Amino acid sequence: MCGIVGYTGNAPAVPVLLDGLERLEYRGYDSAGVAVVSRERGLQIEKCKGRLSALREKLDGQPPLAGTAGIGHTRWATHGEPNDVNSHPHVSQNGRVAIVHNGIIENYVEIKEFLLHKGVAFRSDTDSEVVAQLLEYCFNDHSDPLDAVYAVLERLEGAYALGILCADRPDMLIAARKDAPLLLGYGDGESFIASDATAIIAHTRDVAYMEDGEVAVLTRAGVQVFDEYRRPIEKEHHFIEWDVSAAEKGGYAHFMFKEIMEQPEALRQTISPRLRDGRVVFEELHITAEDVRRFRRIFIVACGSSYHVGMVGKYNLERLMRTPVEVALASEFRYSDPLIDKDSLVIVISQSGETLDTMAALREARNRGAYVLSIVNVVGSSIARESDDVLYTWAGPEIAVATTKAYSTQLALLTMLGLWMARCLDRVEQTEYDAVVSELEALPAKLAEVVSSTEIYQYLASLYFNQECIFYIGRNLDYALGLEGSLKLKEISYIHSESYAAGELKHGTISLIEQGTLVMSLATYGPLLDKAVSNIVEVKSRGADVVALTTEEHRQRLEAIASHVLTIPRTHPVLQPNLGVVPLQLFAYYIALHRGCDIDKPKNLAKSVTVE
Ligand code: AGP
Ligand code: GLU
Repeated sequence: MCGIVGYTGNAPAVPVLLDGLERLEYRGYDSAGVAVVSRERGLQIEKCKGRLSALREKLDGQPPLAGTAGIGHTRWATHGEPNDVNSHPHVSQNGRVAIVHNGIIENYVEIKEFLLHKGVAFRSDTDSEVVAQLLEYCFNDHSDPLDAVYAVLERLEGAYALGILCADRPDMLIAARKDAPLLLGYGDGESFIASDATAIIAHTRDVAYMEDGEVAVLTRAGVQVFDEYRRPIEKEHHFIEWDVSAAEKGGYAHFMFKEIMEQPEALRQTISPRLRDGRVVFEELHITAEDVRRFRRIFIVACGSSYHVGMVGKYNLERLMRTPVEVALASEFRYSDPLIDKDSLVIVISQSGETLDTMAALREARNRGAYVLSIVNVVGSSIARESDDVLYTWAGPEIAVATTKAYSTQLALLTMLGLWMARCLDRVEQTEYDAVVSELEALPAKLAEVVSSTEIYQYLASLYFNQECIFYIGRNLDYALGLEGSLKLKEISYIHSESYAAGELKHGTISLIEQGTLVMSLATYGPLLDKAVSNIVEVKSRGADVVALTTEEHRQRLEAIASHVLTIPRTHPVLQPNLGVVPLQLFAYYIALHRGCDIDKPKNLAKSVTVE
């Protein structure tokens, strides 16, 4: 969580930092702050609670902060309430250093007590401030800032991405990383640090990803990187392919809506390069058909919506491969002493590639000898780099906190992976294989049809935006789909919602259905349509209003019993959730719009969850 950007060069730092923070605000928006350093005025800091706009207003009302080196931060508070004092950057007692931090310093209490005994006065309640204070304390023994930084890092436990400025080094910026994302940007006479590339892409596309334990010293003259033993290292450079406009709203009211609308194209990017002559081809994979035959157990591990992709994946992979698949929440899996070994395949799914729980699960799996294949959107992210194999979703940057196009592309890719592995195992009939491939080819166009008209969702949202609770029910793939629909609604509209396997409702939850309760009945899975119909009748007879989602050929049947019917084109059952999710995204979007919610930046959430 939290966004970090840093700059050193010849231009005034503040505009570069503010522009970068604006692009990073989706990572955290409890507060924003900048620090700059100059020979004449030393360190200058401005920070405040709330959105970046509040900081901009504060800065507009005063003389510009001078300095051509600086650091900026948007916070997602973990330690200490979101207020002005707890905002980053944090400055040491005598104003010698300023830092921004992403992550959690787990032993901060111990360090704080040590420093308090030495007479250091603390200002904030954060864990992060100890880094600034300890650095200043270590400066007493070390005249070289890098010596002091290494002395501090040795004492820190937990996760950090750090940007550091020293009052007496007006063109220098130091960065350090452990278990939190940070990249370096190389410009002409200027250098950058950032939590992700969106922050600096307007200035440079030449980047390097910092690894755990690395420390970088950035000056106008360039960037030097050292490993944990302080040996200089050469970093591999990467070129960011996508254009800056990909991370801009481009006339849409919200990133979420733009990203929903981008889904047909995103799917095309994901699918087309991997279909050749009627076959699924993964040129980027190292894993062989022999490896696939060796795996005795398959796990899918992820968090949030990526976990929901895994839930759909379980049904699909088991259907196609006839191999048992377990789906686990990364935060549970990592502490569950999982039964994995070298004959296990662990499929890790993550949009950001930085989710800490997922990362920890991945490491746990690798330590136990499993083969880890990840499905990731952000190129060069930590999860991608630490996996044995990566399949990139190529959805382009996703900015809205609530995922849409990443979910869709992950889903398509996981199904393609299942199909490919089923072929390796020789477990899928040729007719089934051909049918899925042909529907994969048709999927972007069918999705374009779904997003082409939004009136019905706007209308339904106008009827139901005041609901206190909305249920999602479905069976099999529709159950997995409902989990995602319900999460979308909760995230952005703050309406309480439950997602249930339709057959499970009568075992307890049906007691919550009363006159006027809205039930979204997902009935896109053809083989269980009759069961879905019975469940609709069941909840209707207890007073529920039912919105049913089904495929076009079943419209009439459902119109006879549901209050409203939404339809999607028919496709192969394993791909049906790819079409089914879009009406649920649009429904959640318009409900949130009616309720006046901040759709792209829902309260308490952040895009990339890099804390435990
Ligand atoms: C999705 O709308 C959520 N914001 C969240 O559940 C997300 O899917 C989860 O945090 C996992 O993120 P990742 O895919 O980047 O690992
Ligand atoms: N733990 C730090 C804090 O609460 C950093 C949080 C963040 O990553 O934004 O201030």
